[in-house]
Amino acid sequence: MTMEKRGAWQAVAIIPAAGSGRRMRLPEQTQRQKLLLPLVGKTIFRRTLEALALPEIEAFFIPVSPEDRGLFSEEIKGGGFSQEIIFCAGGPERQDSVANALTAVERWPGWRVPPERRLVVIHDAARPLVEAEIIRQVLDVAEETGAACVGVPVKDTIKVVGPEGIVVQTPERGTLWAAQTPQVFSWPVLKEAYAQAQTAGDKMTDDAALVERTGHPVQMVRGSYRNLKITTPDDLPAAAALLQTAAADKGREEKTRCWTAATGPGPRGQSTLRIGQGFDVHRLVAGGRLVLGGVEIPAPVGLVGHSDADVLTHAVIDALLGAAGAGDIGEMFPDTDPAYAGIDSTLLLEQVMAKLGTAGWQPVNLDVTVIAQKPKLAPYRDQIRRRMATLLGLPLRAVNIKATTTEGLGFTGREEGIAAQAVVLLENTVFSCQDT
Ligand code: CTP
Ligand code: MG
Repeated sequence: MTMEKRGAWQAVAIIPAAGSGRRMRLPEQTQRQKLLLPLVGKTIFRRTLEALALPEIEAFFIPVSPEDRGLFSEEIKGGGFSQEIIFCAGGPERQDSVANALTAVERWPGWRVPPERRLVVIHDAARPLVEAEIIRQVLDVAEETGAACVGVPVKDTIKVVGPEGIVVQTPERGTLWAAQTPQVFSWPVLKEAYAQAQTAGDKMTDDAALVERTGHPVQMVRGSYRNLKITTPDDLPAAAALLQTAAADKGREEKTRCWTAATGPGPRGQSTLRIGQGFDVHRLVAGGRLVLGGVEIPAPVGLVGHSDADVLTHAVIDALLGAAGAGDIGEMFPDTDPAYAGIDSTLLLEQVMAKLGTAGWQPVNLDVTVIAQKPKLAPYRDQIRRRMATLLGLPLRAVNIKATTTEGLGFTGREEGIAAQAVVLLENTVFSCQDT
């Protein structure tokens, strides 16, 4: 995705999880739901959600059968997802489950872009091994084409077999692909496909087939043979083996990874490091309080704002939220909310740190520039630095506070206001490259 496009599109995921797993042949007395079976320490369902938890995907719509809803919501209780999670009712067939989720997607209040720039990722809950890079590729292709489907060329020769077990046809293998999920569609394309299927009474086993019937071309994207759909009992040991080899490969990769300009940060979007910047300005008036970085500075002038107008702390908060891809200060603490009137901004910073912490983010370092003609900040620099280090849980050497004048130029030079800029680096120590 190019930079301008990234902001102009939004994506959500539908994760059908309402099947009954008949082919898994689980004994009646045990757990009925195949998706809640453990797979190397986590359930299949949890693994699929974690695989889809990319910052590009803002919400998960999950059709489940109503009697299993409690069990599924237990699985997301531990948190760790920045996505909004919406359960909906499953239907008798997969297509009915997706159709129910589409109603919820259409009504979702989180959309900020017009329908033609909304993407819907549909991914079976039974495919926990999908890789982040592939999801991103299908998203990119769907942005261009409106409809994209992941698949792999078939390796076996495929036969069409008649009711008596007699082979009736052998299609030419060169053109045959096995369709998988994710499949990604723009909202108008998907809506039209489901509307037509409903009118015609069509039932298909994947969503691309419904789109094909409308005449809209579906672009095939080459995926991976590892992206198994857990269907029969022998898929479980196969998936476990694939997961364990992937974990071993990743361990080796991490050991050899070297963050130099020569080698670069590795495959796009897979770094566990994120950078963010923040900027803020507050107006200076005679009298009032001047608080910078949680430190009260004695001065004949003070800053005004809805909170305590701590411009430095606000820039730090925005840098943190920016690095985590979590919006901005105004979104988290609206200045129309009386709860934040005159509030100590370091309390807001604590809340931001808690929010980031639950998503696995830890600061690596912080650098701040305060732009002010007056007062001289050098005497308070160390105090501010210590306060910021404590609030961010960083050693002192990882925090830097600078101040500059603008040589009398501009609004800061005329002493009408103070500005602050912050840059922060975050590292995700909990979620893997694939998850972040
Ligand atoms: N699915 C669904 N609603 C249905 C049927 C299936 O949401 N009525 C979901 C399944 O939970 C699964 C995905 O669609 O994540 C693909 O289906 P499949 O692998 O066939 O799973 P099941 O239908 O559960 O298994 P089976 O066909 O063996 O009963
Ligand atoms: Mg099924």
